[in-house]
Amino acid sequence: MKLRVNGQDHEIDVEPDMPLLWVLRDELGITGVKYGCGIAQCGACTVHMGGTAIRSCQTPASSVDGEITTIEGLGTPEQLHIVQAAWIEHQVAQCGYCQSGQIMQAASFLAENPDPTDQEIDDAMSGNLCRCGTYPRIRAAIKTAAVNLKKV
Ligand code: FES
Ligand code: FES
Repeated sequence: MKLRVNGQDHEIDVEPDMPLLWVLRDELGITGVKYGCGIAQCGACTVHMGGTAIRSCQTPASSVDGEITTIEGLGTPEQLHIVQAAWIEHQVAQCGYCQSGQIMQAASFLAENPDPTDQEIDDAMSGNLCRCGTYPRIRAAIKTAAVNLKKV
């Protein structure tokens, strides 16, 4: 099957029910996306499909419809995505394991709701778990990203 990931086309030969997470990591070597729970309960595997955040651990390869974007394709080292820049400003990451999923979730959320309330941020991010407890910094970084979005 064909898959477009981070602006590149790929031809892959996998079982149709293989989770997108394993296609990305094992077939394409894109390892920014992480395995946490495998049952859509932690958000570590979050990527974008057509710009919308999805859990790649529960997305069969055969159901992919639209371009996939992972943390590797969200910005570039020269031009970070506004959410990535806010993450650095707030030094959000601790161990880092959950953070690519957090950033992908936040970027998708802000694209839909660029001026969120605190409650909307908490609701949108509630499915992304962080065992290091970086939640206050995640919230602060999303607020900064929302402010900076208004300037562009
Ligand atoms: S690994 Fe997909 S939600 Fe936890
Ligand atoms: S930074 Fe360690 S799990 Fe979130």
